[in-house]
Amino acid sequence: MTPRNCLSNWLAHSKARTGEIEMKAWRLGRGVACAAMALYGTVALAASRVDVRIDASKPGARIDRDIFGQFAEHLGTGVYGGVWVGRDSKIPNVRGIRSDVVAALKAIRVPNVRWPGGCFADEYHWRWGVGPQASRRRTLNASWGNVIEPNSFGTHEYFDFLQQIGADAYLSVNIGSGSAEEAADWFEYMTADKPTTLAKERAANGHAAPYKIKYVGLGNENWGCGGAMSADHYVEEMKRFAHYTRNLDPAQTGATATKRIAVGWDSLNSDYTEAVMKAWKDKVWSWDIEGVSLHNYVVGGWPPHLPSTGFGEDEYAIALGEAFRMDTLIAKQAGIMDKYDPDKKLALVVDEWGAWLAPTPGSNPGFLQQQNSQRDALLAAVNLNIFMRHADRVRLANIAQMINVLQAMILTDGPKMVLTPTYHVYKLYVPFQGATALPASYTPGLYRHGKVEMPRVDVVAARDTAGKTWVSVVNLDPNAPADVAIDVAGVTANGASGQVLSATKVDAVNSFAAPNTVQPRPIAARREAGKLMVTLPAASVAVLALQ
Ligand code: AHR
Repeated sequence: MTPRNCLSNWLAHSKARTGEIEMKAWRLGRGVACAAMALYGTVALAASRVDVRIDASKPGARIDRDIFGQFAEHLGTGVYGGVWVGRDSKIPNVRGIRSDVVAALKAIRVPNVRWPGGCFADEYHWRWGVGPQASRRRTLNASWGNVIEPNSFGTHEYFDFLQQIGADAYLSVNIGSGSAEEAADWFEYMTADKPTTLAKERAANGHAAPYKIKYVGLGNENWGCGGAMSADHYVEEMKRFAHYTRNLDPAQTGATATKRIAVGWDSLNSDYTEAVMKAWKDKVWSWDIEGVSLHNYVVGGWPPHLPSTGFGEDEYAIALGEAFRMDTLIAKQAGIMDKYDPDKKLALVVDEWGAWLAPTPGSNPGFLQQQNSQRDALLAAVNLNIFMRHADRVRLANIAQMINVLQAMILTDGPKMVLTPTYHVYKLYVPFQGATALPASYTPGLYRHGKVEMPRVDVVAARDTAGKTWVSVVNLDPNAPADVAIDVAGVTANGASGQVLSATKVDAVNSFAAPNTVQPRPIAARREAGKLMVTLPAASVAVLALQ
């Protein structure tokens, strides 16, 4: 099969479908013959114009702003150093929480923060993190580097941080090494409005009013670090925790009741999702859940070894090609959920995702520190676009992790702070928070490098609550600009303007020495023959508002 035959095979299969790219056809189209041919290296393909049709008259699901959530685990300097510096620190802070980080996070309107883990959550005991700082128990963080865990950042500090950045709580309770009694006590401590002993203790520790808790995770990866439980065993534990982990605040009922998230898919094995959903279908009055999780990282093979700096097109293509796998995983998990929950009552919660790369040379490997490049910014955009296309089911997601760990928004080193390219994607995407998805149909074209192939462009559109239409376009081709023609049915648009994030190299990063290497800059679309025409630089992401 020649490159041209392979491409027409792909194009024949890639008829655009309203509401989403025909990803399934993309996979079929690339077939065995294409894969074999691709072994011969990069195939030069003419970069033709991409025509996008957005139908503003057919609004889809509401994009829950919680899909732009963050994850902050007691891991490396994610919390200690990244968020918490202590009241006596020379780094400017409010009650121990660093002010530069708070200001940066406020600007991206973080909707929720998942805490205290991850694997750490299943060895976290809340009692050690309340009360006077001086008497807090010092323990070891056995999950992450066996370093001292001072417990200085506990329940009150977490809620103070949330209040400072304007985010909601997503707590994970300890099923792996904790008990249902311990989880029940923690929730009584945080939420009881009556003067129980624990509520009085909370008040004595500085917070008389109950804390608001939007989400609770019932364990974390209990198929692995959370106790290596079989799916059936987990389901039995989860049901007990779902019942006893009670929010006792009468003001948090109905629409504001804490939503319980059970552990699901581990990206390789669907047993948990199947068992949890089956149990939910037959549930009795005493327990319920509102979501099932999915964890999936881009690793490029285990152990993670893709470099976060100084890489070329090979590592660019491997990571981004793998990023599209998220679509398949969501479709599979959603398929299982649909079997038991056709009305989509439960949310699919992607509460850990992102690029897990080789540790920064010289850093503690247990701290999962890595740099963050323009490639990773595109990886974030691709994933967020996938979540938005699945907005009817994906209603909460948390990138791993917020600061200094894995695919971070922010890197800190003592008093220094730098915003990563991924941070800038989150800032560009603020208008999509709470917007309504609009169907975008287009034939995406193909970017291929070696054995890897993927759509050349990726597009989503949405209408915000003020009625403005927004479009995100990602050009995944690192070698050529993309000409995109946008046609919006149901809206008269005279032009469009916004911002584009591009870089001179796919491995460009923002460092403490050069913090502004990757920065968004203005971009505009012109109106030509009734369409909005925009040219995206190679390897870039743009978000535009229609005028
Ligand atoms: O995010 C790092 C770790 O990855 C989390 O602690 C765990 O849940 C997952 O395996």
